[in-house]
Amino acid sequence: MSNEYGQMAELLIKNGRIVTAVDDYQADILVENERIALIGRELSFPAGTVIDASGKLVIPGGIDPHTHFELPFGKEGIVSSDDFETGTRAAALGGTTTIIDFPTQEKGKSTLAALETWHRKAAGKCAIDYAFHMIITDMPEERLPEMRTLAEREGVTSFKLFMAYPGVLYLDDGALYRVMRQAGEIGGLAAIHAENGIVIDEIVKRALREGKKEPKWHALTRPAAMEAEAVQRAIAIAGVADAPLYIVHLSCAAALEPVVAARDRSRAVFGETCPQYLFLDNSRYDLPGFESAKYVMTPALREKSDREALWRGLRSGDLQTVGTDHCPFFYQGQKTLGKADFTCIPNGAPGVENRMSLIYTGGVAEGRISLNKFVEITSTAAAKIFGLFPQKGAIAVGSDADLVIFNPNHKEIIRVNNPRTHHMNVDYNPYEGIQVQGMAETVISRGKVIVREGKYIGRKGDGKYLKRECFSGL
Ligand code: URP
Ligand code: ZN
Ligand code: ZN
Repeated sequence: MSNEYGQMAELLIKNGRIVTAVDDYQADILVENERIALIGRELSFPAGTVIDASGKLVIPGGIDPHTHFELPFGKEGIVSSDDFETGTRAAALGGTTTIIDFPTQEKGKSTLAALETWHRKAAGKCAIDYAFHMIITDMPEERLPEMRTLAEREGVTSFKLFMAYPGVLYLDDGALYRVMRQAGEIGGLAAIHAENGIVIDEIVKRALREGKKEPKWHALTRPAAMEAEAVQRAIAIAGVADAPLYIVHLSCAAALEPVVAARDRSRAVFGETCPQYLFLDNSRYDLPGFESAKYVMTPALREKSDREALWRGLRSGDLQTVGTDHCPFFYQGQKTLGKADFTCIPNGAPGVENRMSLIYTGGVAEGRISLNKFVEITSTAAAKIFGLFPQKGAIAVGSDADLVIFNPNHKEIIRVNNPRTHHMNVDYNPYEGIQVQGMAETVISRGKVIVREGKYIGRKGDGKYLKRECFSGL
């Protein structure tokens, strides 16, 4: 379609199989001014770029609602190893076109200052569009109005609260209630890291006293029951505070139970799980030497049986999203800081690049979920929960042209030295050796082709900051 000035369209995608969270049909897509302008059969308009998507799926760009780029974490001076440039480029290569990262409030300081710091980290660097949640570490009564400013002026409408890490990020139950109440009043969403950090710290101290310092003790000191208890408590507090609740990185069947029970009572409780909890399990902590430090993350990896329970949760709709909790640290030089004591191993693992292929593999190719469900849990549900829909997460006229041409048959083995599976700035991949089926071949961000045949051809700074709307239900 040429516009009123007679200019031709940017992009025409021909012959693709369009799959959204609800549709599945054959059509062409015309893109103008960064958005989808027309969807129809056998479109023939002059366009700057024409892509033949025969035999491929055309899906909404992935949305990863949980990344930590350039996050200072653990001991002084340790920072997660992907910054907004390397991290968003790797995300793009994997078929993700939007990420939501986490500015972290410094205790005693303004959340708006934290937001500014994160804007400085991200501005001009991102390959794809990005948005922010806010990690609140300290919220006295007099600071509560900041949350309204964040939501109404800055487009930060969700707030992550920690029940873990006492003395660092932890909020006590009173503070949780205070923040959740304010979130509910302003139409925001409380996101919760649910682990009983107070009990876990006691278990950790005891383990250290007994000389139990190898990486596996990270997992053995953070039992699933303490995640389940915290999920239950967070749901109760959010209920009294009248706030919707989103449980991040839910890792096991025991923690899913209270979510299912709350949803059965029509409570606005939502859940995210991560590829690591769907593909990996606690046998990784039995690896020889210091290898298992690669899997030191919170929550820790669980039993093999938990993996199937989480897939079931995604299939049934009790869990809505798959975020990566991408928080990479180099094995050499960062993870190894904890050689003598597991509490000094920085917590976290990479995954932003491999999420779409992994979930297609374990989900669609292995018969656990439908194609529509794949789109829903990797893109559409996050767009809806986090106030980005229908700008993102949809293939519809007027939506941003964030599109992935996905080859459902391409197989690859994830390896840190395979240039088709690993561009993240980290020296290992937790999914090393796993064969995935399904690959993002062409990735389009607001109408611009940024990945062509698996190669990044975009520029840093292509990605824009997204102000999000308030939570309005799913
Ligand atoms: O181990 C993890 N998950 N690191 C990132 C911080 C968090 O708790 O999400
Ligand atoms: Zn967390
Ligand atoms: Zn996280």
